[in-house]
Amino acid sequence: DDDPRIRSIQSKIRVVPNFPKPGIMFQDITTLLLDPKAFKDTIDLFVDRYKGKSISVVAGIEARGFIFGPPIALAIGAKFVPLRKRKKLPGKVYREEYDLEYGSDCIEMHVGAVDPGERALVVDDLIATGGTLRAAMNLLERAEAEVVECACVIEIPDLKGRDRLNGKPLYVLVESQ
Ligand code: PRP
Repeated sequence: DDDPRIRSIQSKIRVVPNFPKPGIMFQDITTLLLDPKAFKDTIDLFVDRYKGKSISVVAGIEARGFIFGPPIALAIGAKFVPLRKRKKLPGKVYREEYDLEYGSDCIEMHVGAVDPGERALVVDDLIATGGTLRAAMNLLERAEAEVVECACVIEIPDLKGRDRLNGKPLYVLVESQ
């Protein structure tokens, strides 16, 4: 992208080879958070895209969706709903299991957090295979919300996670380096 803010954001993401496992190029957003201008630009880019779109709920995926989701929600006047890993939420939940390379994981959302017909934005730091975002979208659809879009800071394009999102649009700021 030509926006100088995008290049700056890209430059603040630290790539750590072989973490947490050999062969993985870990995309570390903690270095982006250390730069208040780049962190603010990240939030502003999302807010500019989603303000005025009648989005009433921002759903953030544990753990790093909890960093980017809430400031977006506050700025566009939406509620924030945390989508949490297994057995962290105390109330009645919807649960979606999804496959990992070895084994499976799951995310949960409180029943009643989102009402039927609400317009939702799903936020995470990164899309790799897309399994996590798809599970998140399934949670919102079970609550009869309308997923308007998924938003991530980083996409790993080679993994084609975008193609697993049931045809819903995905907006990302940068591609992995
Ligand atoms: C990472 C990332 C996304 C997910 C993307 O989370 O923050 O949530 O993986 O992968 P996918 O597109 O292949 O599903 P991680 O599993 O490391 O969990 P954590 O945020 O709780 O550490």
